[in-house]
Amino acid sequence: MNLYDSLNRPLRDLRISVTDRCNFRCVYCMPKEVFGSDYQFLNRDQILTFEEITRLANIFVKHGVKKIRLTGGEPLVRKGVPNLIKMLASIPDLDLTLTTNGSLLVQQGQALKDAGLKRVTVSLDSLDDDIFKAMNDVNYPVAKVIEGMDYAASIGLPVKVNMVVKRGVNEQSILPMARFFRERKYILRFIEYMDVGHSNGWRMDDVVSAKEIVGLIHAEMPLEPADPNYRGEVAERWKYQDGSGEIGVVASVTQAFCRDCNRARLSAEGKLYTCLFAIKGHDFRDLMRNGATDDEISEKISQVWHKRADRYSEIRSENTIPLPKVEMSHIGG
Ligand code: GTP
Ligand code: 5AD
Ligand code: SF4
Ligand code: SF4
Repeated sequence: MNLYDSLNRPLRDLRISVTDRCNFRCVYCMPKEVFGSDYQFLNRDQILTFEEITRLANIFVKHGVKKIRLTGGEPLVRKGVPNLIKMLASIPDLDLTLTTNGSLLVQQGQALKDAGLKRVTVSLDSLDDDIFKAMNDVNYPVAKVIEGMDYAASIGLPVKVNMVVKRGVNEQSILPMARFFRERKYILRFIEYMDVGHSNGWRMDDVVSAKEIVGLIHAEMPLEPADPNYRGEVAERWKYQDGSGEIGVVASVTQAFCRDCNRARLSAEGKLYTCLFAIKGHDFRDLMRNGATDDEISEKISQVWHKRADRYSEIRSENTIPLPKVEMSHIGG
């Protein structure tokens, strides 16, 4: 049964965070000052088991979900993710994908593909080692991320690339990235730096707008707008006029797209968030562990979605920026 929220938006896309841990410390996501050695990550018994995730996923699919994306933290630092993919892949007609920093793709790509993963999205913020290392803050080199994405592509997993753009940090990498991935034929998406969580010290001045990014690329490699692939696609598509591929821009700060937002997010500890910028999630872990039936879980999903009225990006203001929002590493972007 399809579900619609209070603004008549369907539920289509479920993003499942499988861990709050990551082997990177990107400054805009898990800054070292906050996520240091004394940070309390979730324990094993606090996070959903693969069986619990699969049980929930099956119920969400009955409510209209067509795409499931595994996220983190970094999803591949959790042991056995290919097993989870295998369990989820038994659900018919599902776009099954994951967002990763790419560091473990060479080791795990084949197992993921064999398990039924359909495609991957890899984050990379620059081709310049000094800039990338300053952003991931763990001295991780660009070449290894590219090796991971090339490996995934070589075994038949379509690859997209996500680049978060932060003013004064990696804006000079926009053109080199566009040139490189146009050549490589991976769809590159530029993401406006967002005020997610409350630890990254976000300021509007740090945002490079999608308009500016498109303008910069268009001046060298002419672009034309392309229609969305599906309703509610977050990235706005732009095609190279010479037919050499496309890019995307995720303009969640300067051109909010809440009107069509059909995404729900499940944290590693089993809380359902109805917005990336939510303050509070709805617990499903204890519900399951206390013996709830599938019908009861289904009913709770319906209740939460029916009430949903989130449109944070449309109403972002001086007053909303300091709110104690959930961290990106808990709900995976
Ligand atoms: P496709 O399935 O390939 O279309 O990818 P996607 O755009 O759904 O997923 P991806 O994880 O690559 O999203 C790109 C980035 O856009 C995310 O990492 C987030 O930073 C941002 N983003 C995704 N969904 C939302 C959303 O609902 N609201 C906001 N504000 N930003 C989002
Ligand atoms: N603003 C925009 N994008 C972000 N991501 C993480 N933190 C932020 C932020 N503050 C992106 C990552 C990855 C995806 C999961 O979310 O780079 O591509
Ligand atoms: Fe890890 Fe991704 Fe966050 Fe970077 S953006 S710290 S790779 S979860
Ligand atoms: Fe959806 Fe919230 Fe993002 Fe708006 S801000 S698009 S409601 S997740």
